[in-house]
Amino acid sequence: MTIKNVTVLGSGIMGHGIAQIVSMSGYNVILRDIDQKLLDKAMNNIKWSLDKLVSKNKLTRQKCEEIYNRIKPTINLVDATKKCDLIIEAVPEIMTLKKIVYTELEKTAGVNVIFASNTSTLPITEISEITKRPDKVIGIHFFNPPQLMKLVEIIPGQKIDVAIVETVKNFVHSLNKDPIVCRKDVPGFIVNRLFIPMIHEACHVKERHKNSLLEIDSAVKFKFGFPMGIFELADFTGLDVIHKATVEMQSRDKNIINKNHQIEDLFQQNKLGRKTGKGFYQYDHEKYTRINLAEELAEKCDAIQIIANIINNVAWLISNNVSDIDEIEKAAKLGLGIKIPIFETARKYGLQNIINILNEMYKKYGDTYKPDKLLYELV
Ligand SMILES: NC(=O)c1ccc[n+]([C@@H]2O[C@H](COP(=O)([O-])OP(=O)(O)OC[C@H]3O[C@@H](n4cnc5c(N)ncnc54)[C@H](O)[C@@H]3O)[C@@H](O)[C@H]2O)c1
Repeated sequence: MTIKNVTVLGSGIMGHGIAQIVSMSGYNVILRDIDQKLLDKAMNNIKWSLDKLVSKNKLTRQKCEEIYNRIKPTINLVDATKKCDLIIEAVPEIMTLKKIVYTELEKTAGVNVIFASNTSTLPITEISEITKRPDKVIGIHFFNPPQLMKLVEIIPGQKIDVAIVETVKNFVHSLNKDPIVCRKDVPGFIVNRLFIPMIHEACHVKERHKNSLLEIDSAVKFKFGFPMGIFELADFTGLDVIHKATVEMQSRDKNIINKNHQIEDLFQQNKLGRKTGKGFYQYDHEKYTRINLAEELAEKCDAIQIIANIINNVAWLISNNVSDIDEIEKAAKLGLGIKIPIFETARKYGLQNIINILNEMYKKYGDTYKPDKLLYELV
């Protein structure tokens, strides 16, 4: 199947960026939202982003205009779906809303149209079952901001037609992105399976070992090759996003995360991170500043529990045939920016040592930490 015409539903943080990159690769794009003012704002954002590429000589003025003009904004769902091959849905992460949207789509879109959700945590199989075409419903999970992030997770639902997976993979390649296929529709897919539990683990380390935010963040940055500290990354992502992902992932499997209260506390106090000026850290609203991390601080925290948790989740993904080591390393590098391969860190600290640490935590804090069987096999 050839994809030429793409409809993006939702013109918010993700939708407008997705519409931009899809148009940049030559596809005709319709961008649909429910309010004209939101669409106007989205088109302004796209223009701003394209102008920036022109000013950096990465795009000619003529190309910029062609890309912009290929995106047609509309609030009319029938117009948006009557002539498309693929619909990428990026409406808010609320299952009841997504269900309404897919029920509407089923009535207006042609029977061969592929439905793709940009959901970060909701089960694709459950979404697909709302439709009469579960064989054509798939997850295409772009990361924020889609214009810059190379990684895209592809998540086939249980009833997917394998030919659709190939079509979508080719489509993602054509956007100049690097796709990884999450072979099973598991909570958190691949990146969030590592990322969300890791933030809770960092909160536990802060409480159990009385390390400061700066010490933990410095340790993960300087010892394990993280691009920034975990708390800094959490603030960047948004405590609302992390809290909601936690709730969603735990509703499908309680043991995935050993939940720490600090994330929900910040969420309840509307301390959502950078966007509200306060999260784990305090921020200056006017200018983008990075948190000052230092190698001397890194020495005060071993942070091995955080790494042990990540390694255990990597092992779980492999032994459950969700992914393989190469794809997971790619996900960690491109999705989380971790510069040192996770298994290199695992070998450096010793797999037996990692198992011992996990077993200690398993005894004290429960099933989340039970070492995966693959770790024993590797030892
Ligand atoms: N924000 C992130 O960092 C991020 C990253 C990856 C994936 N995601 C996922 O992408 C999706 C969208 O997230 P977002 O952050 O862009 O949300 P957002 O709130 O910024 O934007 C959602 C947009 O959808 C519109 N909308 C609501 N109902 C609609 C409908 N029926 N039809 C068309 N548009 C409708 C809203 O008006 C809004 O403009 C979610 O599933 C989210 O989990 C978000």
